[in-house]
Amino acid sequence: MSGAARRSTHRAVQVVELKGPEGLRLVELPDPDPGDGVLIEVHHAGVAFPDLLMSRGEYQRKPSLPFSPGVEVAGVVREAPLGCHVRAGDPVAAFVRVGGWAELVVAAPSLVFALPRDLSLRSGAGMPMNYLTAHLALTRRGGLTAGDVLLVHGAAGGLGTALVQAGKALGARVVAVTSTPEKAELARECGADHTVPTDGWLGSVRELLGPGGVDVVADTVGGDALLDSVRCLSREGRVLVLGFASGTIPSIAANRLLLKNVDLRGVAWGSLIEDEPDYPARQWADLMEWHAAGFIRPVDGRCFALSEAGDALRELDSRRGLGKITLALRPADERNS
Ligand SMILES: NC(=O)c1ccc[n+]([C@@H]2O[C@H](COP(=O)([O-])OP(=O)(O)OC[C@H]3O[C@@H](n4cnc5c(N)ncnc54)[C@H](OP(=O)(O)O)[C@@H]3O)[C@@H](O)[C@H]2O)c1
Repeated sequence: MSGAARRSTHRAVQVVELKGPEGLRLVELPDPDPGDGVLIEVHHAGVAFPDLLMSRGEYQRKPSLPFSPGVEVAGVVREAPLGCHVRAGDPVAAFVRVGGWAELVVAAPSLVFALPRDLSLRSGAGMPMNYLTAHLALTRRGGLTAGDVLLVHGAAGGLGTALVQAGKALGARVVAVTSTPEKAELARECGADHTVPTDGWLGSVRELLGPGGVDVVADTVGGDALLDSVRCLSREGRVLVLGFASGTIPSIAANRLLLKNVDLRGVAWGSLIEDEPDYPARQWADLMEWHAAGFIRPVDGRCFALSEAGDALRELDSRRGLGKITLALRPADERNS
């Protein structure tokens, strides 16, 4: 597509009513003006929890209707500003916050990341949010160091698999909590040293680790697990609050933290990068080192055509999904998915 005359319109999926998957429509939109940004011909787009929540009007960010969901994409640069770190024709991944479910997007240069040849556009589309969040969580917020024990809830999900792989890159011993044997197998393929079933996970972890406990718990699920996550910590351990895939935001009495000298720490990559626009590029450099060393291997989940975006959201909502769900934006990519 690079070098071809720019079309005046492109396809996109929009939320036209806040009814979840039923409120989506495939539309034609005028091509965007790149301005100071990077114009990207999107081949694949990630399908993420914020998309599902935004489609119901339940996310903290509430764009006015109609809007295109889609926080992250991968594709080929069509135009970039002078002096930019990427050029026309480069394969890239990008974080766009909203609007990624479209054949053309404009991304801020600081949130565009060059993809190495051995990472496909499909894998790249699911990387920015999950892997950069996992990096922030385990390095800066979690202080994970080599030899620590890391426990990951929802370990077979998009963010969970990224956390398992990043944990191994940092030299941790990783315990994965998953709800099915199939998900446990996936977590092991990502590098988890141990897997325990969601039902009765605290007892299994105590049996596995003995009195030592867990140094860092990465919680992407929320709900009932929080109190037991604090219970399983070693002294000065940390629970990282990353998300609430269960749909329930838990509460905890502060004395639980006091009694064990432990921390509960929030992790919100999307809000942190508003204050530190240079941070994602530094994180991406670390990720690419971890990738070159064999630790970062994105797990491609199901891939849906753009016209099936509602089914992609249903898949995410169903808890059936393994790895990262994506949309294929172009007919050739749909055929290869
Ligand atoms: N803090 C941040 O900056 C940040 C960044 C990215 C994502 N997030 C958040 O992290 C959470 C997970 O995102 P994700 O992309 O990893 O999602 P995902 O791929 O769907 O994985 C979520 C996992 O949660 C578990 N789960 C438990 N109860 C569930 C339920 N009722 N419905 C669906 N899944 C359930 C499932 O594992 P089991 O079946 O094995 O329990 C599932 O594999 C979301 O809340 C998302 O908003 C936060």
